[in-house]
Amino acid sequence: MTTDSPSYSPGLEGVPICESALSLVEGEAGRLTYRGYSIEDLTLPEATFEQTVALLFDGELPNESRLSEMKNILRENRILDPEIVELIRQIAKKTHPMFAMQAGIAMLGPKDNDFEIKVGSIRQRSLSLVAKVATVVGVIAQSLEDRPYEGPRESESHAEMLLRMITGNETHPDGHVHTMDSLLTLQADHSAGNASTFTSRVVTSTKAEPEAVVSSAIGALSGPAHGGANEASLRLFIEIGDPDNAEQEIGKKLDDKFKIPGFGHRVYSVKDPRSKVIQRIADQIIQAGSKNDDYYKIALSVESVATERLGDRGLFPNVDLFSGCVFAAIGIPIDLFTPIFVAGRTLGWVANMEEQWASGNRIYRPTQIYTGEAHRPYSNIAQRD
Ligand SMILES: CC(C)(COP(=O)(O)OP(=O)(O)OC[C@H]1O[C@@H](n2cnc3c(N)ncnc32)[C@H](O)[C@@H]1OP(=O)(O)O)[C@@H](O)C(=O)NCCC(=O)NCCS
Repeated sequence: MTTDSPSYSPGLEGVPICESALSLVEGEAGRLTYRGYSIEDLTLPEATFEQTVALLFDGELPNESRLSEMKNILRENRILDPEIVELIRQIAKKTHPMFAMQAGIAMLGPKDNDFEIKVGSIRQRSLSLVAKVATVVGVIAQSLEDRPYEGPRESESHAEMLLRMITGNETHPDGHVHTMDSLLTLQADHSAGNASTFTSRVVTSTKAEPEAVVSSAIGALSGPAHGGANEASLRLFIEIGDPDNAEQEIGKKLDDKFKIPGFGHRVYSVKDPRSKVIQRIADQIIQAGSKNDDYYKIALSVESVATERLGDRGLFPNVDLFSGCVFAAIGIPIDLFTPIFVAGRTLGWVANMEEQWASGNRIYRPTQIYTGEAHRPYSNIAQRD
């Protein structure tokens, strides 16, 4: 059959939404690269989140002096106005941290609202947001636990600051800071087609201020089909409780057509490469015999049962099957898993924003296929049945 109308692709599957040189997801090969570098290499022991920030913005890995410059830029931009800190602390007591994140970032916006005339400052505004988003996560964490505000410190790296503000601990076991660096890097970008980055592109295309771009993207990330799956997977493991019950419980859930959080992906038809890196970290930092070790064992059972049932349909673990166990193992409360995802992904959102402006920034205005009534005559209310 031929038709004059374009065909509709639910979920825009297979529809390119932009050109991008930032990151590449190769679904069949199970590969994720930023500017051509593999996520496996970008999470090696010497690698930091600051390096990933420099790579995504500059297009090249930083040398020592550029890396130190990037560390300073993030440090200088982390500080929040005390009034904003207080407002975020109050909001955090009333809503889920993801809504507090959205509100907190929106509050960082300027009093005027015409970004086109300020677009020359886009790099500065982008880096400022990457820096401040992490502080906002820390402020929310401190408020939730009724701890006083203890802001960013001069000596800390980005990951160190996040870990201290969230956990309240002054020192961290071996490997925990590097785990935070790796989690931020693994979540930093995932091609422009993921729902939140697509959102950041759409909002950018309206010439909105960067804070509006990031707070909108946070809303998109909050859903359980996207960022919220890391929380949902750990909650599922807590519900299952005992690794010995995992096989049977997951089998029952699959019989009931339950969607296993942390499983399946629109683009990957093999195991998500991020989940392999997270497992490498899990093997290093989860203590044998701990509660988190039980959850990790449950996650492994979920992988094995669900892969046996769904693997022939190209469904395998995604980043969120094991990430919750690792977040928990470094002391992150469950409600803060997705906010940390925000702290990493803000980098991808603002790098996409910058790329979008550089490419001409034409407003997104796709079409629809109308399925409603044809034109019909209006009748006034007295004449209606
Ligand atoms: C990621 C996800 C949203 C992709 O969605 P999608 O490409 O639109 O795929 P669909 O939801 O249409 O799923 C296609 C089929 O696979 C099944 N499926 C997909 N993910 C599944 C899962 N996690 N558990 C069980 N079945 C799943 C669906 O039920 C559907 O089956 P059907 O054809 O019999 O109806 C989806 O796999 C999902 O909801 N996963 C769980 C949430 C998650 O982990 N999100 C984080 C992504 S990084």
